[in-house]
Amino acid sequence: MTKVIKNGTIVTADLTYKADVLIEDGVITEIGTGLSGDEELDATGCYVMPGGIDPHTHLEMPFMGTYSSDDFESGTRAGLAGGTTMVVDFALPNPGESLLDALKRWDNKSTRANCDYSFHMAVTWWGEQVFDDMKTVVETRGINTFKHFMAYKGALMVNDDEMYASFQRLAELGGIAMVHAENGDVVAELSAKLLAEGNTGPEAHAYSRPPQVEGEATNRAIMIADMAGVPLYVVHTSCEESHEAIRRARMQGKRVWGEPLIQHLTLDDSEYMNADWDHAARRVMSPPFRNKQHQDSLWAGLQSGSLSVVATDHCAFTTEQKRYGVGDFTKIPNGTGGLEDRMPMLWTHGVATGRLTPNEFVAVTSTNIAKILNCYPKKGAVLVGADADLVVWDPEKTKVISAGTQQSAIDYNVFEGHEVKGLPRYTLTRGQVAVVDGEIKTQEGHGKFVEREANTVVNKALSTWKELTAPRPVDRSGIPATGV
Ligand code: URP
Ligand code: ZN
Ligand code: ZN
Ligand code: ZN
Repeated sequence: MTKVIKNGTIVTADLTYKADVLIEDGVITEIGTGLSGDEELDATGCYVMPGGIDPHTHLEMPFMGTYSSDDFESGTRAGLAGGTTMVVDFALPNPGESLLDALKRWDNKSTRANCDYSFHMAVTWWGEQVFDDMKTVVETRGINTFKHFMAYKGALMVNDDEMYASFQRLAELGGIAMVHAENGDVVAELSAKLLAEGNTGPEAHAYSRPPQVEGEATNRAIMIADMAGVPLYVVHTSCEESHEAIRRARMQGKRVWGEPLIQHLTLDDSEYMNADWDHAARRVMSPPFRNKQHQDSLWAGLQSGSLSVVATDHCAFTTEQKRYGVGDFTKIPNGTGGLEDRMPMLWTHGVATGRLTPNEFVAVTSTNIAKILNCYPKKGAVLVGADADLVVWDPEKTKVISAGTQQSAIDYNVFEGHEVKGLPRYTLTRGQVAVVDGEIKTQEGHGKFVEREANTVVNKALSTWKELTAPRPVDRSGIPATGV
């Protein structure tokens, strides 16, 4: 049984051309003109692009006394509705838990996925067991990315000595270090001070995490990664201070990537000043939304290439869950949704405004991610032999985003009321049509785990520090043998 996508314009990260795409057994088998198949999907007036890859999700994640409300079923259904065909979720070990046991929990949860997925491994504590497990995770589980939380003191945070040890281990194994870059010690101090002064509302969350805490942590992580000789991926880059550190590192030849979120690109910190407590609390996430200058910096980074990918950090909590923090903003579960809206929002605010070309859109939503995470060209490509994870994108199709029509399990949407122009006509996951003009045809359990091997080529990243400070013998033959 073959399928053919006909009459569309293929858009990849570097090419735009008219051609049909033939699909068999879930992979692309031919690209050309005048192709025919058992089933035809009409792409007239549409772009045929690699499906989106969201490199940063938290589905059914235990966090801040609860679980994020979208699981692998609703989360991937939401993703497919918006043109995303692969998600990469974070497996989080409990303190003292082996990495492999944590992965078993994520394996169990992900059996319900509607599209393909992979995992990043979080390093939430440090010890011999973690050191040993890391090798098994890389070599037998196909996971080459390890995240370190520099924030959430007393919960997920790791200290600099632990981070340096972990980064060195990753350099040996051919892994990539990831960081949530915020200075957790300063955040804890600021939070306690704000609360003591009677600032209990959601707006205080933003005051407790100013851009400086992110900029400091990003700089620190970059330097530690350089000393360890490991490539670094900075998740949810939200401000100029952090972007500036990444930009500088890249100009120095360091392998550092920055990941802005669609939320930070399109929503600003005025959301926290809304008089409605629920409105503001629903937007509490870390890092918080920033002002327009920071947003401009992030857009400039995507345009110039100093920032590489756009993600969501999808971590959705219901209003009821957010209300755990009434009277104490530090208890509001941190996180926002975005899986269904990332691609349409980025198209609307990026491509339709002229900030990004369609090819750049493909790069930052799919191809760059697949390359960094080492699953290209299985994913992120329209090439013969690639998985048929595709989106037939209608640039004229519009809708107004609304919680009432979304796939996510939560009761609101942070983009509520935004009109988007640019939506999937079809979304295909490994050749299976999962969405037709907004109609959901997903199949629970269709998704498969995507193995990602160590990337030893990228891992030869330069360590500028090692060269400068390698011990060198000094001739001290003229100095007396004893100090007497
Ligand atoms: O607020 C956020 N970002 N919640 C999810 C966990 C994380 O920090 O990525
Ligand atoms: Zn984070
Ligand atoms: Zn996250
Ligand atoms: Zn908008």
